[in-house]
Amino acid sequence: MQVGLKIWRYDSKTGERALKEYEVDAPEEATLLDCLDLVKDRQDGSLAYRKSCRMMICGSCGMRMDGGAVLACKVRMYDVAEAGHVPVISAMGNLPIVKDLVVDMAPFWQKMRSVEPYLQPRYDQAEERENIVTTEQMDVIHKESLCINCGCCVSECNSMESDPDFLGPAALAKGMRFVGDARDGARIERLERYSEEHGIWDCTRCYFCNERCPKGVDPRDAIAKLGAEAMKNGIDRDMGAKHAKWFVTSAKTTGWLRETELVPKTQGVVKAIKEIKFAMSLLPKGKVPPPFPPHVAAEVDESRALYDLVKAQGVDGAAGIVQGEKALGALSHHAETSGDRSPYDEPDSAPRPYLPSEKESEEVTT
Ligand code: FES
Repeated sequence: MQVGLKIWRYDSKTGERALKEYEVDAPEEATLLDCLDLVKDRQDGSLAYRKSCRMMICGSCGMRMDGGAVLACKVRMYDVAEAGHVPVISAMGNLPIVKDLVVDMAPFWQKMRSVEPYLQPRYDQAEERENIVTTEQMDVIHKESLCINCGCCVSECNSMESDPDFLGPAALAKGMRFVGDARDGARIERLERYSEEHGIWDCTRCYFCNERCPKGVDPRDAIAKLGAEAMKNGIDRDMGAKHAKWFVTSAKTTGWLRETELVPKTQGVVKAIKEIKFAMSLLPKGKVPPPFPPHVAAEVDESRALYDLVKAQGVDGAAGIVQGEKALGALSHHAETSGDRSPYDEPDSAPRPYLPSEKESEEVTT
């Protein structure tokens, strides 16, 4: 097949930048990485990119294809070539470019180091020499353990783009990997540290990291788990934690978000007083509902029952965070049982993620 590629070439020494077009004759099973190899071998040996394992294990070949981070060795080019599309290939975002598709990973590793990504065991507290961990305990951090440090999530992180000091999705997901490990003895210290400025609560919840992670780590879910664990342990001094707490109180009491009270509850009374002028400008537009009497939703009992159910089930902290794949599974289950159309049946929907059916799961376990 004929594969066309437009590649952003860049030389950090000279500052020269150019979008160059290439076409290669590649086998039908070729990946983007195979096509880059062909360009380098046959057309332009100066093209720079990273690779090692060629099988989605080492995390070396992160780059952008049409503006979104991918592992080059994971992307099959057949459908792209068949459609006659010529994708634009560029270096990952949020990291300095060294040359062409190679980025400097030093800032990535510096943040990774800062979360102390190693077990700090509590052997002194273990009853046995072996610290046995149950499957249920490991399930909490199963997804975080899949990370291969490719940097695709960091590349797409909107929060990091506006605040380069933000710890970012990869480091925080790694942090959750140890906070959630039953053998780790430093979880409270970790939660304290990750809750500081540029930490957990600086994530803007855009979910791009979940969308682009090639290994299903779902870093945003990991950050949500860290937030839930921090609050469960009373580490809630950050504005973000206060904001989340008020959401719950608000939904529980009225079924609505009590916006007028959100600023004093989140940012404190002094800040709220400073914002009064701004609030008054919103008043004529109907954006500031009067706080008294509070607007109570007609079906408020439903939100209160939901709150009580979560409490009764004891799924607070990380255990209460719905994982991406489970949430998607629930959606398709809902469609199957209710006869509704699944969101994945819509014409422009994302491809349906693979989830084993009950029958397949049984086959695996028997
Ligand atoms: Fe190792 Fe792509 S080359 S992940």
